[in-house]
Amino acid sequence: MMEVSVVGATGYTGVELVRLLAEHPQVSLQVLTSNSFSEEKISDIYPHLSTKIDVECQKLDVGQLQEESEVVFTALPHGISMTVVPKLVEAGLKVIDLSGDYRYQQLERYEEWYQVHDSPQLLEQGVYGLPEINREKIAKSDLVANPGCYPTASILALAPLLDKDLINDDSIIIDAKSGTTGAGRKVSLATHFCEVDSNFKAYKVANHRHTSEIEEKLSLLTDKEVNLSFTPHLLPIKRGILATIYGDLKEDISLSTIIDYYNKFYQGDRFVRIMSGGRLPEIKFVAGSNYCDLGIKVDQATGRVIIIAAIDNLIKGSAGQAIQNLNLMAGWREDLGLEDTGLYL
Ligand SMILES: NC(=O)c1ccc[n+]([C@@H]2O[C@H](COP(=O)([O-])OP(=O)(O)OC[C@H]3O[C@@H](n4cnc5c(N)ncnc54)[C@H](OP(=O)(O)O)[C@@H]3O)[C@@H](O)[C@H]2O)c1
Repeated sequence: MMEVSVVGATGYTGVELVRLLAEHPQVSLQVLTSNSFSEEKISDIYPHLSTKIDVECQKLDVGQLQEESEVVFTALPHGISMTVVPKLVEAGLKVIDLSGDYRYQQLERYEEWYQVHDSPQLLEQGVYGLPEINREKIAKSDLVANPGCYPTASILALAPLLDKDLINDDSIIIDAKSGTTGAGRKVSLATHFCEVDSNFKAYKVANHRHTSEIEEKLSLLTDKEVNLSFTPHLLPIKRGILATIYGDLKEDISLSTIIDYYNKFYQGDRFVRIMSGGRLPEIKFVAGSNYCDLGIKVDQATGRVIIIAAIDNLIKGSAGQAIQNLNLMAGWREDLGLEDTGLYL
């Protein structure tokens, strides 16, 4: 069994990691850390875990993590992660970081959208953990930067079109909606029940950080500078992302040809499902699973292709994808511990 620990186990992505890793057939869950709930059992903080795991949470101690683990998941806020990850890497641990701190190749881009970086030397070492695009590099990596939730849905939706050079790279529009767990467990006015319930609103219009992550990764993929408009919205639900994405087609091309490209591009990718027969993705179809569902339509009147992408932000958008990355790093089957088809209701 591989010894694995979770730093930030009490957050929303942390607890999803704990829930999924507790069922993983090749993993022994070791240290769980929390800032505010140290010395409390994870099953007392989250009673749904009571029959699965009763490990006591600890304050973060790199020595203990080094002694008791081979791989550490860091599910910390950005800015905090960059103060912890270098110590773990130095201690010889393999790290899968869920924050934005190691996702960027370009330091300037990170510092423009986030903050001054404490450990820029690790940016080069960090491999962007989107398995469908970066599988070989992830398998050899000691530091995986797990992608953001909106970027996961957006990049998977756009990669086949840009790979085939079918759409203009300066007029893409991503209109995305997320449930409130996307903002984490910490209390804030914007995600307060009365602010979110029976409501629907756009936020961070034209300045959400994920714009830069999506642009950088798509630019690397195409070898061209991709610029796009990304508008996130807050849905009055707990989990799930649905993105509606518009691209201007460069040529007249049939829907069936586009769908063929998608099927070829994602051939063998267990967690990307291209919907056919006129069906479109819904959050219900992916909630609780590691799937990314993609639906495609061509609007003949405007010459646009419209892609609908749905993921569960806590699974394919974070914890599940992180475990998919662990499986690759360990040389296991990519879907180990991730076979669940989801909840639907
Ligand atoms: N939520 C999502 O859908 C999602 C998706 C993709 C990526 N991410 C990224 O994943 C990371 C975690 O997100 P989350 O939603 O799980 O956040 P969260 O619910 O706010 O949880 C944050 C965790 O970090 C711990 N923590 C906070 N400050 C700390 C500090 N100074 N020292 C040590 N531990 C500290 C918290 O511990 P205590 O509360 O126990 O003190 C908690 O366990 C973030 O970087 C986020 O951007 C989130």
